Amino acid sequence: MDASLEPRVETKVPKKVFIETWGCQMNVADSEEMLGMLEAHNYQATSDASEADLVLLNTCHIREKATHKVLTRLGTLRPLVEKKPSMKIAVTGCVAQAEGAKLLQKADNIDILLGPGKIAELTSLLDAHEQGKNPVMALGFDRHKDEGEALLLTPRALTPGELPKVKPTVSGKSEITRYVNIAQGCDNFCTFCVVPFTRGRELSRSPADILDEVAAMIADGCKEITLLGQNVNSYGHDLLTKGRLSASEAGPFADLLEATLALPGLERLRFTTSNPHDFTRPLAELFRRHPQLGRYIHLPVQAGNDEVLERMKRKVTVAEYMERVQWLREIDPTMALSTDIIVGFPGETEEQFEDTLKLMAEVRYSFVFAFKYSSRKGTAAARFRDQIPEEVKTARLARLNALQDRITLEGNSAEIGQTRQVLCHYESRKTPGHYYARTEHFRLVRIAAPRNIVGELCTVKITDANKTALIGELL
Ligand code: 5AD
Ligand code: SF4
Repeated sequence: MDASLEPRVETKVPKKVFIETWGCQMNVADSEEMLGMLEAHNYQATSDASEADLVLLNTCHIREKATHKVLTRLGTLRPLVEKKPSMKIAVTGCVAQAEGAKLLQKADNIDILLGPGKIAELTSLLDAHEQGKNPVMALGFDRHKDEGEALLLTPRALTPGELPKVKPTVSGKSEITRYVNIAQGCDNFCTFCVVPFTRGRELSRSPADILDEVAAMIADGCKEITLLGQNVNSYGHDLLTKGRLSASEAGPFADLLEATLALPGLERLRFTTSNPHDFTRPLAELFRRHPQLGRYIHLPVQAGNDEVLERMKRKVTVAEYMERVQWLREIDPTMALSTDIIVGFPGETEEQFEDTLKLMAEVRYSFVFAFKYSSRKGTAAARFRDQIPEEVKTARLARLNALQDRITLEGNSAEIGQTRQVLCHYESRKTPGHYYARTEHFRLVRIAAPRNIVGELCTVKITDANKTALIGELL
């Protein structure tokens, strides 16, 4: 073709974005979503904040000092903005939603404020900012955009060329294990929790969207997917109520798991966070039929005493929680569980706290995320009398962690001599030739291997163990 007739392609130098992600896996998934949108808007990720055109702080508001931490971080960004005055700062995530415009009064260097329910507006806010508006913000929650449309729980027959573009990872690498958000928000209003205020009411994504995204990730080399929701196993109830989705007796979440498991090439499927209230027997039964679900589940209990659970409005008793544990351990007595626990919830007595320790000794979790109760503005428990003194919470947390450390070590040590199937996630950066993998029980295993085993399901013999990891030998 005559060179003069060739279309002229304008190549704009890409801008750079530095993303910092705090808090839960859902924030990681949101950061990836935003990075994908920014890449389509001529941005490139950088790991060096000083060279960024846009610094994006994706924040978490779940426990105390959240706003304080954001303000401190904004302070440390000041010298960078002085050196590079064109640098923009965006605060996104749950602190942005919870604080809203008040945050702009507390810090004068925020250009963009974006709540987790408004991620889709990120690039239009950037454009508005470019046109001289400052600051710009989008907060609050949208309802379903495709309202009225009936949804089907079958994957569309997409060929690789038709699959949606896979979202970039924050690491920039094609990862073996990835997160997929299936629902936003929560309708539960546990009395300690700020999530229903920062992420709004439950809003499920359409099954076809989810399945397309998972299929695209598998085509990209991903072997393990974790489906995410604040209350993941109540997925689809909003769609059912509106008559937009029909489900089998097992319910929409179990149906979604079955449909996802049917996608070829997926080695493992996990989901989090399960709420014991919505954890049903048919859901437990899926673990019997599908080895891809592994032998592990995170099932937050929060406390081991019925009165405390009642005041937390968790909607299950200790006996009901234990019944669910029973369902899983009937299927496989080795089923590994982890949990979240809050110590020092308002009014928690010494005996009630000890009930939590008893429950832990009975369930024998493989690990526990334990937190001191922290009062969150706007939640019901913030108004409860009998707030527990800080030093009592600290002492209880230390006792609880000491017990769990023992249980974790015993559980890991019992693995020595076992043969396990592991999925290898990555190679150690510090010691090449050493790989990190997870067993079907989600235990971390370090393996020395003569070849690259990233992405492989391998059989290993466990030869040693400590509190954090096992050592495995490739068979
Ligand atoms: N104080 C302490 N821990 C909390 N969590 C949620 N809200 C609070 C709070 N106000 C913990 C719960 C939850 C986990 C994600 O964070 O254990 O399951
Ligand atoms: Fe918070 Fe309870 Fe909803 Fe979990 S289930 S996000 S703890 S309100």
